Amino acid sequence: MITAETVNNVREVVSGWRRDNLTVGFVPTMGALHEGHASLIRQAAEECDRVVASVFVNPTQFGKGEDLDSYPRDFGRDCKILEQEGCDLVFHPDVTEIYPDGFSTYVNPEAEMTCRLCGKSRPSHFRGVCTVVLKLFNIVTPDRAYFGEKDAQQLAVIRRMAADLNLPVQIVGCPTVREADGLAKSSRNAYLTEDERKDAAMIFQALEAGRKVIDEAGGEASSDKVVSAISQVISEIRDSRIDYIEAVDGTTLMPVEKTGPGTLIAVAVFIGNTRLIDNFTV
Ligand code: PAF
Repeated sequence: MITAETVNNVREVVSGWRRDNLTVGFVPTMGALHEGHASLIRQAAEECDRVVASVFVNPTQFGKGEDLDSYPRDFGRDCKILEQEGCDLVFHPDVTEIYPDGFSTYVNPEAEMTCRLCGKSRPSHFRGVCTVVLKLFNIVTPDRAYFGEKDAQQLAVIRRMAADLNLPVQIVGCPTVREADGLAKSSRNAYLTEDERKDAAMIFQALEAGRKVIDEAGGEASSDKVVSAISQVISEIRDSRIDYIEAVDGTTLMPVEKTGPGTLIAVAVFIGNTRLIDNFTV
C-alpha cells in the first residue's frame, strides 16, 4: 500500500492507474477504523481495480466544543487494517494540505436537508462534510465512492451534492456493521465506559421496537407511534438524553407522517457525554 501525504502524490499515482484503464474506488474516513470501515474497503476492492482511502480528521465538520481534539487517532493501526482489506493507496494529508492559508470556498448544502436530524444540533457539520468530500473527490477522481448507511443523513446529503453538481462519481451506500449485541460500530464507541457500552445496545433494541410497530401496521405506521415506541426504550437507558428520533423520507429527509418504503427512522442519543447515532430504512 502506498502512503501519500500530498495532493500531487495522489494525482501522480491515480493518473498512472488511469493510463492503464483501471477503475478507482474511494473510501473517505477520519481514521480510528473499525469493522464498518473494513467492510467499505472490502466492497470497494471487490468492485474496483484499485482502492484509495483517505484518513483525515476534517476540522471544518466539527463544531465548537465538539471532539475534534480528542477524536481517536492511530494512523499506524489504521494502515494495518487498510492494507489487510485490500487498500492500494492511503491519503493522509496534513490540515494545511487541505485547507491552506487563505482557504475561503465552501460547499453549503441547502438547509432543507441539513436543518433537521444531526444538522439541528450540528449546524455547520454538513458544510464541512460536503466541502471536504468534494475536495477529496477532486483530488482522487474516483469512479465509485463508498459511505456507510449508519451516517444516513451524510449519505443522503452527499448523494444530493453529487447529483446537483454533476459529479462523475457513483455514490455507493453500504450496510451498517453491528456488534454482536446490535450496537452500530462507530469510532465514538471508544468513548463509552464499560457500563455505558452495555447500555448502548438498547439503542438497537429501541429501533427494533420501532420496527415492530411498523411491521404490525403492515409497513404503514403513524410516525408518532414509531417515535414513541423508540423513545420509551431509550428513556430506560441510564444517563441518556435523546437528541432526536425522527421519521423522514430517506432521500429528501423531509419528515413523514406515515411510514412507507424508503422511510428512514433515525435516532441520536447521548449516553453520558457520548453522542451515538443509528437508523434503519423501512
Ligand atoms: O464519515 C466520515 O468519517 C466523515 O464525515 C467523512 C465522510 C470522511 C468526511 O470527513
